[in-house]
Amino acid sequence: MTLEEKIGQMNQISSYGNIEDMGVLIKRGEIGSILNEVDPVRVNALQRVAVEESRLGIPLLIARDVIHGFKTIFPIPLGQAASFNPGIAEEGARISAIEASAAGIRWTFAPMIDIARDPRWGRVAEGCGEDPYLTSVMGVATVRGYQGESLSDPTSIAACPKHFVGYGAAEGGRDYNSTFIPERQLRNVYLPPFEAAAKAGAATYMTSFNDNDGVPSTGNKFILQDVLRGEWGFDGFVVTDWASATEMIAHGFVADAKEAALKSVNAGVDMEMVSYSFVNYLPELIKEGKVKESAINEAVRNILRIKFRLGLFDHPYVRETTEDIFYAEAHLEAAKRAAVESAILLKNEGILPLKESVCTVAVVGPLADAPHEQLGTWIFDGDKNYTQTPLAAIRQLYGDRVEVIYEPGLSYSRDKSTEGISRAVAAAARADVVLAFVGEEAILSGEAHSLADLHLQGAQSQLIEAVAATGKPVVTVVMAGRPLTIGRQVELSAAVLYAFHPGTMGGPALADLIFGKEVPSGKTPITFPKMVGQIPVYYAHHNTGRPASRTETLIDDIPVEAGQTSLGNTSFYLDAGFDPLYPFGYGLSYTTFRYDNIRLSDSELKKNDILTVECDITNTGEYEGTEVVQLYVQDKVGSVTRPVKELKRFTRVNLKPGETRTVVFDLPVEELAFWNIDMVRTVEPGDFGLWVATHSQSGDEFSFKVMD
Ligand code: BGC
Repeated sequence: MTLEEKIGQMNQISSYGNIEDMGVLIKRGEIGSILNEVDPVRVNALQRVAVEESRLGIPLLIARDVIHGFKTIFPIPLGQAASFNPGIAEEGARISAIEASAAGIRWTFAPMIDIARDPRWGRVAEGCGEDPYLTSVMGVATVRGYQGESLSDPTSIAACPKHFVGYGAAEGGRDYNSTFIPERQLRNVYLPPFEAAAKAGAATYMTSFNDNDGVPSTGNKFILQDVLRGEWGFDGFVVTDWASATEMIAHGFVADAKEAALKSVNAGVDMEMVSYSFVNYLPELIKEGKVKESAINEAVRNILRIKFRLGLFDHPYVRETTEDIFYAEAHLEAAKRAAVESAILLKNEGILPLKESVCTVAVVGPLADAPHEQLGTWIFDGDKNYTQTPLAAIRQLYGDRVEVIYEPGLSYSRDKSTEGISRAVAAAARADVVLAFVGEEAILSGEAHSLADLHLQGAQSQLIEAVAATGKPVVTVVMAGRPLTIGRQVELSAAVLYAFHPGTMGGPALADLIFGKEVPSGKTPITFPKMVGQIPVYYAHHNTGRPASRTETLIDDIPVEAGQTSLGNTSFYLDAGFDPLYPFGYGLSYTTFRYDNIRLSDSELKKNDILTVECDITNTGEYEGTEVVQLYVQDKVGSVTRPVKELKRFTRVNLKPGETRTVVFDLPVEELAFWNIDMVRTVEPGDFGLWVATHSQSGDEFSFKVMD
């Protein structure tokens, strides 16, 4: 390969114009990958130029953001994470790969496995929430789903765990903002999902937009070379985020595009997304000896290795018919299952599932029939005409059982006009139950869509107040890209179902949950704050020297002219106390579960032992249901302070009424390792607490000891 041909492989462009325009560059070997090309006929035409008309015939790698579905849209990843079911993530990714590869796409920029503990950040929707273990499990499942059994399977697409790394810790939840994550926290919290994805064979990685402690990820040799390649043995390739190489100019990390190319390549970036600094400046940087040709050779090898693994050299073309693949019946069924399992029942005063005695339902709220909005963020290819909304599904599936009166009250989530609310109230007055579908439009979360206020937008709060004032029981269903501060709406509602943005099949899934054909089983994958001022609020925090007792005097009980009191006080907010609205791992069912007989195989273990924990779970209610059983540990004393709890295992267990099953967790002691005071990953001997529980704030504490 000539130097220009090598650098060409390192260049990714976004599709533009006609085939001839791009063909000129492809023919000269100046493009390695194209993103945002989704028409299989065009993909084949472009590929033909690369394979048949360029000197070396190297096929292009066609990429697209297929984040939670290509055509058939699954719940947003945060919703999928609420299922605590890696099978849901794997199946969703597999189907996405089947649909996307049919269009000629062989590479997607997913999974997004940024740990996010700030729901103001719009991109919280794209990831699995706050927990490194849950995110690792879901991330690995997603990689498996995209990449299939073998990358060379024509329905496999290369995964790209992103954003490497720390992007979710953006200060103040404002997108693209700086992060300040010290190395120990980086290693204990932010890196584990990426390490798990590397071990699962993820083919590519994407750098992140943020600068961490002053170093933009795209120029960060420590994470791209020392950790990713050195420590984890990654042999795929690293792509920048969109123009994140040249964005280092705005960061103030490089002076110009030439220095951007220099610092990116020398840090370990292999491919540049859309900002052309590599093609424009690498030739002279090599001539000047600032970039070694060996670095270019390495990058090209990394890229070609993945192209070979994808089988692109043998099968560069796709068949050009997609009708039997897009929105296939089986895909829609899987999307519905995912939406069922993603919904979290946050409150239920016995109103759900709706009883036979309910004859009339008032369906209100701007999200009841919003085919575009329920798909959520990052939907380039999903067609809203295939969306099944809750209103349509209730009418279609349960229209013979109940009379449905539809009065949205507001026309979209930000609608401030209260004019329609009186009609919604009139509908509520005529109904036995109000079903209120509220939340956020798709555009209010996702990239560059951070919010400082997490209350329901527009006049939605007034709508809920008004329908609740009729005295009719209100079932509030929230569709959103993030946890919203819905404390007041929870108070006013007889039941609350949190559905996130549930995707194409959200309607039938929610209808079946509401009418009892399905039973909710989702759990919060991220802490729900009471108010924005509590953020960051997450379960795996460290203790202060003055942990909250939850008996603190709150603002309304402080006498006027109270004297200064700080001694003996604790770490809490005068106005919000200490606890969130809902803790991590929380979610109800229509049935109830009892946890009995929790037993540990040993009370003293050595570092290479496996702790076996068993628990009998009984369905004590009247519905068949699924419980997500969670195992948490606490390392009591460390060379550095440790989280008060860490999720280490979870499993879903389905039980018929009255049925008991024993859940068994095997936990190798080595999984208690963390990066300690010497920045060494190790298990420190000592006392541990252990909980097997229904959420992160419940359950009795057990204990065991790790011996020297
Ligand atoms: C986003 C990435 C995405 C890329 C390509 C960027 O703006 O941060 O997550 O994959 O665009 O569309």
